[in-house]
Amino acid sequence: MKGISILGSTGSVGTNVLRTLDAFPDRFRVVGLAAGSNVERLAEQVARYHPRVVSVASAGARDALSRFVDLGGCRVVLGEAGMVEVATHPEAGIVVASAVGAVGLVPTFRALEAGKDVALANKETLVMAGALMMAEAGARGGRVLPIDSEHCALHQCLDGRGPEEVRRLVLTASGGPFRNRAKDTFDAITREEALNHPTWSMGRKITIDSATLMNKGLEVIEAHWLFGVDEARIEVLIHPQSIVHSMVEFVDGTVLAQLGVTDMRLPIQYALSYPERWPAAIPGVDFNRGMRLDFEGPDHERFPCLGLAYRAIRAGGSWPAVLNAANEEAVAAFLDERVPFNAIPEAIARVMEAHPPTPLRDLEDVLEADRSARARATEALRPRSIAARVSS
Ligand SMILES: NC(=O)c1ccc[n+]([C@@H]2O[C@H](COP(=O)([O-])OP(=O)(O)OC[C@H]3O[C@@H](n4cnc5c(N)ncnc54)[C@H](OP(=O)(O)O)[C@@H]3O)[C@@H](O)[C@H]2O)c1
Repeated sequence: MKGISILGSTGSVGTNVLRTLDAFPDRFRVVGLAAGSNVERLAEQVARYHPRVVSVASAGARDALSRFVDLGGCRVVLGEAGMVEVATHPEAGIVVASAVGAVGLVPTFRALEAGKDVALANKETLVMAGALMMAEAGARGGRVLPIDSEHCALHQCLDGRGPEEVRRLVLTASGGPFRNRAKDTFDAITREEALNHPTWSMGRKITIDSATLMNKGLEVIEAHWLFGVDEARIEVLIHPQSIVHSMVEFVDGTVLAQLGVTDMRLPIQYALSYPERWPAAIPGVDFNRGMRLDFEGPDHERFPCLGLAYRAIRAGGSWPAVLNAANEEAVAAFLDERVPFNAIPEAIARVMEAHPPTPLRDLEDVLEADRSARARATEALRPRSIAARVSS
């Protein structure tokens, strides 16, 4: 039995991880769970999986949790230090990083530092600190196994082949809900429209990232660090059916693609079973229903976030962390209905311009870039600052 800890166990990926584990009760033992504030769902998970340690974001959440479930035998810890304890528990052989955003950075890094295998959904951490994380994994012997469906597809197609055998990586994108929407109506996009993803059911932040195509930009950076391929050889294609999850074109012109239904349990199980394949009760693709597979290039003018991500990884250093921090702040402001949809790329571009890239020597440098970019983003997202830009 392998011990497993899950960061972000109450989220969309986290709950799918637990559903996946349910199919393999003899292979995994849940050691640690970390969540933020959804204590009702966490209480159900504690009652069912009996972890040794659980982490929540605040003392208030801990108190609420104890009202929902008997915590006897389960240590309850708090905040970032608590997540680190879950991520580094001695009985955990594998850590699923499925918290959303920068909050996962330090715990995921500490898991790698402790030599754990990390099954990674929390792409923001690799965007912020990809060089440091991959170096840590290399030095301590832990593996970074992608859960993101596109990177899982690339992982499967590459099957251990190195960047010298790759001509290009092709990341597919559904195109999000605004694939065919006219640019001059983007300012009128509502939160509900943006949260209505055409093919995947996911958490709110990644759903907005999918609508702006920033999600694909973050994935370009993620692919760069996971597979050692420079961004000039990572291409994005819009594929509205979301059946082809990504492709690799090798130097001899051969293209390998991975196809599957849109069910996160598929990439989750692959990451957890790797290098083996285990049977799953997930349906295959039904090719008999007159299926079409369409591909087209992305529209950079309507979706500038993608180009910003390419600029960030091309320049390197702190810029991807700055991009990520500004994006997290801008998406939160849009979800709170404080700013319109178009303010997201505008604010990110302004924050990047104000923060020329600097080298990242260690985690503290990353956290400092994150902090200062967030402070600048908060300024750029103030209603007065946006109104001034609209009228100028
Ligand atoms: N959803 C997908 O299908 C999918 C696919 C590929 C990649 N990803 C990536 O996977 C990650 C998770 O996405 P998701 O869709 O599962 O997000 P989600 O549904 O919003 O879940 C986020 C998780 O993070 C936890 N969290 C948030 N703030 C926290 C804090 N301050 N301290 C501790 N935990 C905190 C949440 O806990 P509470 O809810 O308890 O507050 C929740 O468990 C993201 O990086 C996303 O880009 C997701």
